[in-house]
Amino acid sequence: MIQINGLNKSLFGGGHTVNILNGIDLVIPSGQFVAITGASGSGKTTLLSLIAGLDEPTEGNIKINHQDITKLNEDELAELRSQHFGFIFQNFNLIPTLTALENVALSAELNGTNGSKKKSMELLDLTGLVNRNHHYPSQLSGGEQQRLCLARAFINEPSIVLADEPTGNLDSQNSKRILDLITDLHRNKKSTIALVTHEPDVAKRAERIIVMDDGKIIEDSMPTM
Ligand SMILES: Nc1ncnc2c1ncn2[C@@H]1O[C@H](COP(=O)(O)OP(=O)(O)O)[C@@H](O)[C@H]1O
Ligand SMILES: [Mg+2]
Repeated sequence: MIQINGLNKSLFGGGHTVNILNGIDLVIPSGQFVAITGASGSGKTTLLSLIAGLDEPTEGNIKINHQDITKLNEDELAELRSQHFGFIFQNFNLIPTLTALENVALSAELNGTNGSKKKSMELLDLTGLVNRNHHYPSQLSGGEQQRLCLARAFINEPSIVLADEPTGNLDSQNSKRILDLITDLHRNKKSTIALVTHEPDVAKRAERIIVMDDGKIIEDSMPTM
């Protein structure tokens, strides 16, 4: 479960304060699939980064399974991330000196996942990258790098997936592939999914849709209920 209380994020500079997030209260129960939408600049990426412990809030707290992550140090945060989170973020963080297959397998090995190479190949197959397994990230297109990130995020079957516009620059076939993978993980492993998207068709896959504007949640609905 993700519990967010009175979350504010401000940046200070040039004599100004910019409020990026303004009093976010949000509970995401375990196993829920939430889509986060809203205009560009509304704070979606900032919110995901804070949930991931990649950034610090100005005020408020974030609990992951009842543990307040705003009180953890860097090592504790790194451990929490490797245990619970799968990230599909816009800045890919792929390791440039490792091939596609090695990037996925390394993530599995770091987490002690068994049969890492075979499983990595299966995920490369599912993400349509099996023929690219010996390529380095720089030899892959933007869309392929994005799918590689997804394969890497999914190798450890994370209990929480944070995805920032994972289908943003993909064609419709690859977009469907990625969404099917996310939906399967949600259904089969009961993973919690927080997915940022500006595409209404993508948001429809979720059980709950949150709309952000100007650092606030302005709508929160469960259209399929
Ligand atoms: N490091 C930063 N410095 C200054 N402004 C920032 C920084 N990061 C984000 N912002 C501003 O915060 C607002 C929210 O950004 P972001 O969370 O990326 O929104 P979204 O993902 O919804 O497009 C934007 O107005 C953006 O310009
Ligand atoms: Mg963003």
